[in-house]
Order: sequence, then structure tokens, then C-alpha cells
Amino acid sequence: MKYGYFDDANREYVITNPQTPYPWINYLGNDDFFSLTSNTGGGYTFYKDAKFRRLTRYRYNNVPVDNGGKYFYIKDGDTVWSPGWKPVKTPLDSYECRHGMSYSKIKGAKNGVEAEVLQFIPLGFWGEVLKIQLKNNGTEAKKLKLFSFIEWCLWNAEDDNANFQRNFSTGEVEIENSVIYHKTEFKERRNHYAFYSVNAPIQGYDTDRETFLGLYNDFDRPDAVMEGKPRNTHAHGWSPIASHYIEVELQPGEAKDFVFMLGYVEVTPEDKWESKSIINKRPAKAMIAKFDTTEKVMAAYNELRAYWDNLLGKISIKSNDERLDRMVNIWNQYQCMVTFNMSRSASFFESGIGRGMGFRDSNQDLIGFVHQIPARARERIFDIASTQFEDGSCYHQYQPLTKKGNAAIGGDFNDDPLWLILSTTEYIKETGDFSLLDEMVPFDNDETKAKTHFEHLKISFYFTVNNLGPHGLPLIGRADWNDCLNLNCFSSDPNESFQTTGNKKGRTAESLMIAGLFVVYGREFIKLCKQIGKHDEAAEAQKHVDAMVEAVKAHGWDGEWYLRAYDYFGRKVGSNENEESKIFIESQGWCTMAEIGKEEGMVKKSLDSVKERLDCKYGIVLNNPAFTKYYIEYGEISTYPAGYKENAGIFCHNNPWIMIGETMIGRGDQAYEYYTKIAPAFLEEISDLHKVEPYVYCQMIAGKDAFKPGEGKNSWLSGTAAWNFYTIVQYILGVKPDYNGLSINPCIPAEWDGFEMTREFRGAQYKIAVKNPDHVSKGVKQVIVNGAPIEGNVVPMLEAGKTHNVEVIMG
Ligand code: GLC
Ligand code: GLC
Repeated sequence: MKYGYFDDANREYVITNPQTPYPWINYLGNDDFFSLTSNTGGGYTFYKDAKFRRLTRYRYNNVPVDNGGKYFYIKDGDTVWSPGWKPVKTPLDSYECRHGMSYSKIKGAKNGVEAEVLQFIPLGFWGEVLKIQLKNNGTEAKKLKLFSFIEWCLWNAEDDNANFQRNFSTGEVEIENSVIYHKTEFKERRNHYAFYSVNAPIQGYDTDRETFLGLYNDFDRPDAVMEGKPRNTHAHGWSPIASHYIEVELQPGEAKDFVFMLGYVEVTPEDKWESKSIINKRPAKAMIAKFDTTEKVMAAYNELRAYWDNLLGKISIKSNDERLDRMVNIWNQYQCMVTFNMSRSASFFESGIGRGMGFRDSNQDLIGFVHQIPARARERIFDIASTQFEDGSCYHQYQPLTKKGNAAIGGDFNDDPLWLILSTTEYIKETGDFSLLDEMVPFDNDETKAKTHFEHLKISFYFTVNNLGPHGLPLIGRADWNDCLNLNCFSSDPNESFQTTGNKKGRTAESLMIAGLFVVYGREFIKLCKQIGKHDEAAEAQKHVDAMVEAVKAHGWDGEWYLRAYDYFGRKVGSNENEESKIFIESQGWCTMAEIGKEEGMVKKSLDSVKERLDCKYGIVLNNPAFTKYYIEYGEISTYPAGYKENAGIFCHNNPWIMIGETMIGRGDQAYEYYTKIAPAFLEEISDLHKVEPYVYCQMIAGKDAFKPGEGKNSWLSGTAAWNFYTIVQYILGVKPDYNGLSINPCIPAEWDGFEMTREFRGAQYKIAVKNPDHVSKGVKQVIVNGAPIEGNVVPMLEAGKTHNVEVIMG
């Protein structure tokens, strides 16, 4: 069952039924200021950091779901309704929500009145614009009462959720003309405030929640709205809100626009006050003036659309399946940009208070957006590398506001450092910019401890070399990519987190996942060294990579697949000998990507075992059979019920590793089948089962051992976005930037006749037409560039500023 449809020409998903199986959300903002907004107007706004600078309040896991947001109430006679259906839930005559690229439009109609809310954050602006248009489609004049509503968060979202003995006494506001200012804690240590304005005179307002709603009311029937009478309250403590009240008269056919703005202002300490206890409103007024007419708003909206045209114009394809085209051209790239902005911090499953920017996550995310915003990717690489320690290990996360490592989250995830090689080499291949390697980058944010970025990479590489276990395989540390395979943890206390609790200092537990990862990115490190003339460095590194390959062949092969690990006691994990979880996906992914033992048939056997044991209707599960009891020596993985999350869920992030593995042995049909199983646009028809948005990937789909296989959770913020984009474009469609050109090596379903791709690469446009006359999956017979055949399949760098035609004949 579907709840809407794709409008590809506008790059929108159009939701036509507000009662989606879960709130289907969108993200607004591209720089410092962000909002999450659902298809019924729920959500919240923050500046840079969803924990420390939350502007509006949101209650997670609320009843009913997604209660609270930026609401409008329209009172038309005795009927009260909201354009997004919620919170009032009066049945609408029509409803539509268009989630587009960094904007959303919600349109509702009732009794001849249509209300359309356009919501976005202008580029580079610290404010969100909500333009509501009210239109009288009827034959009689209408007298409407419009109420706006937001609830302020007292800045620190975690404290706001917990510290009520203080917070109920601190709230402060000011009201001047049509602007409501939120200034809690401004008089002490904060140099920032927020405001909610409208570009029209108001006939009343409210800032005290209890009076506006009524203490025992929900958001669906505020006293002030039901009675059509604002109370003009001035909040002192408790829960400050902002609600404007506007009386609107509309003749038949007439429409009126109102521009609301939720803004954030920072002032210098000297410039905080206008007069005693009265905040300096000048910066707010300047912001309001920027968008105080419909024309100004629409100009900024068009700028935003042009911004996305440009970003999405860098890679686009035309295949014979519109679902594939919309994934690659629109939604997958869009989601990658959202993960750039959010990492794993704020979604409808991530509360914005728990997690900052992840070291491994952010490095991996980068491969999904480096072609769009290379300069910001470069900056991001340095932000991440600056949180590394001198021995190569790193903080697992850092806070976006301070860019400092987050000590509370811990470290010792031994895969972390290697991902820096991935992000850096992908950046250089995309841009040709080797200069970042020479930049001085601090350790632990301490400028006195800085080394070149190249040294950071080298230290990352040698971190693995210096941390090998008894079999010459990498020690796992707290965990590798799989946060929940905690082989040194041994936790029996339900009150401690597996992520941070004290580990046993084991020098036994080893990871085959890191082994494969090391071979893949070790080789990338070697290739990079050669590019920059460090041949001795390359030769030295090669020895370690070769040794790792041998160690995997000797100690990491279980007969039909690669082992997953050795545990604290040196016992095999992910072996046929085990009673449960005989096979895991991660080591199959990384060791096949590394092509370890390919000549001996290991790669093919491993992938066949994945197909046989891990694949199911909805994707590839993480492990099989699922754990059914708690294994103290394995940790969190065995805490999850069978079929969920890391315990045999379809953890979408790692499915592409298998797809890439399949392309290594030329099985294009299989690679693509795996791709389509989890690509959201291909799941639109089963939205009622899948539950989460059909336009973005989710982290996890319940696996075959679960109660409800196929049900998705944790949409939006997941490495799934970057890895799927990277895999479909660079390995299945096979167009891959390399240091000296664009390598073209597709691995596609044999029945395809071909496809087209337009790709901007180092300032030139490549119009690539791939033809598959012999219906093969892999193999390039000839590449013709601007009419002339070339040797091999790497298209050299061609003149920037021009369009070049590349014809690729497979066979
Ligand atoms: C989550 C984390 C990621 C981890 C994965 C597997 O998605 O963000 O860092 O690798 O889970 O545990
Ligand atoms: C839990 C989750 C895992 C996530 C981790 C982050 O362990 O299962 O996916 O990466 O928390 O802290």
C-alpha cells in the first residue's frame, strides 16, 4: 500500500494521506541552522547542535506519536482545523505534503478554505521561514482566526528534558509588536536568543503554555483557539511558547500570505542589551526585514532550488528503471547530504542528545557527498582527524558545536582510524587536491601536537599493525564497525552501557572485519604513497598488507566462509562450529572486497554462503542463525531479540559491502538484486509493512528471524545512504574517480542494454553512454572518448569547462 507518490520532475515525495504508518519526515537547512519536520508539521529546530542549542521543544516517544511542532490552527466559525491535519485532526477535505530538497509544503483544505504552508531555511540564514497562504475558494466571504504555535526549548535539550526543579522557574520572554522573543538564561551566560515573528499586525498573542492550552488539554484543542480568544499572556517560568493571533478576512477567490520566521541571534557580550533587562533586538529585526514579503521569500526559495539543481546536477543517470533513476539522481544524494549535516545526531529515532558526530560514521558518510561539496568535505576531514590521538586511536564521537572529542562516549573502537584513509583517498581522487596531505592537523584538538595530515594517515595505518593479536589479525578493541560485538566487555550489570563500560584488557579478541578493512584501505594507503612518490613507505606498508592476507587465509577461513572473529578466550566466532551465529556479514563483505583468497575460490564460496544463509526476501541479515540467548562474552549483539538490529537484522549499511564483493567476481545480476531489495523507492508498494519513508534508506529492516520481517526502523541517519550511493554509482554502474581519470567498469544485470550517466569531474562534464550489445554483466571492450578510441578503461582528465562524450561498449 502506498501513501503518496514520487514527483520526480519537482524532486518531491508527495504524501496524500496524513496517517502514514510512521511520521515521514524531511530536513530543512544546509549550513548551521536545521529543522526536522514531519508530514503533519511535527518536529523541531536547532542551531548547529541538537543537544546544546535546541530552539523548540520536542518530546520523543510521545503519545500520540509525533506530538508537538510548528503548528497553525485555523478557526472558521465553529470549525477548528490545521493544514497538516495534526494536531487538531479535524478531517480535511484535501491534504497534501510535499517533501522536497530542504523544503516542505503542506497544503490542507476545509470548508472552502485552503491553507498552504511553505517551510524552509534560506541558504546561509539562521532562521526558518514558514509562509502560510490562506485562500478562500468558496463563494462567500470568510472571517478566519489564525493562531500560530511553537513551544520553546530551554536550549540544552537534555537538561530541558530532565531538570524541572530549575527549568520551571527560568523561562523568560519579551513581546514587541508581532515578535515574540525567547530569552531564557540570556541575562546570565548565554549570548543568544530566539524569536518567532510574523510580517503582519497581530490582534493578540500567548507565551504561557498552560494558559494557551489549558493545563489538562492536549495540543489538539487549546482553550485559546477553541474559544477564538488569545489571552495575551506573558510567560514567567513554566513552559514558554510563542503563539500569534491574527484575524483574517477573505473575499471569495482572495488569498493572503503571512510570513512567519523562527530565528536565532547571537550577540557579543558588550552588545547584549538595549536598555535595562531589554534585549538588543536589532539583529533580529534585520533578519525579519530580509524576508518580510512574499517576493523576498520566494526569491530565497528559488535560490534554494537552484542550489539543489547544482548539487544534484553533478551526477545523474538514465536507466530503464525510474526507481533506480530517482534513487541515484535525487533521494540517495539528498540523504547523503543530510548525513553530512547530522551524522547520527538528530532524527525521529536519534534524539539529538545522545550522539554527536561519529569518527567512523562521518568518514564513511563523506563518500556520499564529496562530489557535491568537496571544499566542505575537506574541512570535515580535518575536523575528524583533529580528534585523533597520537597513537592513531580516536574519540569515537565529537560534538559539532565545539568540534571536540566527546570523552563521555569513549573510544577504543579499533576500526575507527582506518576510515580516515577511505575519506581522504576518496576526496583526493574526486578533486585531484593532494595539498591536504601537507596541512598540519592537531591531535586531540591540541595545536601544539600537530602533524601533517599524511602522518595522520600513516599513524592510522600503523595503528592496526601495532595492535595485532595471536593470529596476526587485528585486535578488535571495544568493538569494530559492529558496535555491538563487544568481545572484551563481559557486562552483567544492566545499568551500564556496552559502549562505555570498562573493558577487560584483552589481547586476544581479533576481528576479521578489521582484517579485510585493513587490506582494502592498506592498499589504498600504498597506492596513495606511490602517487606522491613515497615508494619506500609503500614498500614497507605492502609487507604488512601481504602478511594480513596470509593471516586471513591461514586463520580466518572456516571452510565455506570467513570467520568473524576470535573471542576473548581465543575461540572462533562466526564458525560452523558455533551453535548460533555461524556466519556474519561483515567479514564476508570486507574479505571479499579485499579479494582475499580469490584464486583459491574463497571469495566465491563466501558470497555463495551469504546467499544461502544470510539473504532473505527483504535483504541480507547480519548473522545467522540469530542469537537466542545472552552471551556475556559477545556483549550487546546478543541482547537484541532475534532478527533486530545487530542480531540478525538487515543492517542496511553493510549490504552494499556484499554487493561490491559480488562485483569483484562479476555477478552483476546478484549485486543489483541485493541493491533493489533495500532501496527505498523499490519498497514504496509495501509502505504499510516497511513503515518508514519510501524515499530514504533506514538503518535496519527486521530480518527473517524477526516477528515482522520487512519492517524498517531508524530511517535517515545511517551509513546506508553513503554506501549504497557509492556502490551503485562506482561499482554497479562502475564509474569511479581515480587519481588520474575516471575509471569505467560496470557490473550490471546482463539483460540491461546499457545506461547513461552525466558526471562532473574536476570541472569537466562527462556524458557517458554505456552500451551492452552482448548482454554481459562485466567487461569493457572499448571506450571511445570524443569519437576516438582509448587504451584501457580509464578516461583521462579532459579539458575543464567542456562537455565530453564517452561511449563505453561492454562485452
Ligand atoms: C550504528 C553506528 C555505526 C555502527 C553501526 C553498527 O549505525 O552509527 O557507527 O557501525 O551502528 O553497529
Ligand atoms: C547501539 C546500537 C548500535 C549503535 C550504538 C551507538 O549499540 O545497536 O547500532 O551504533 O548503540 O551507540
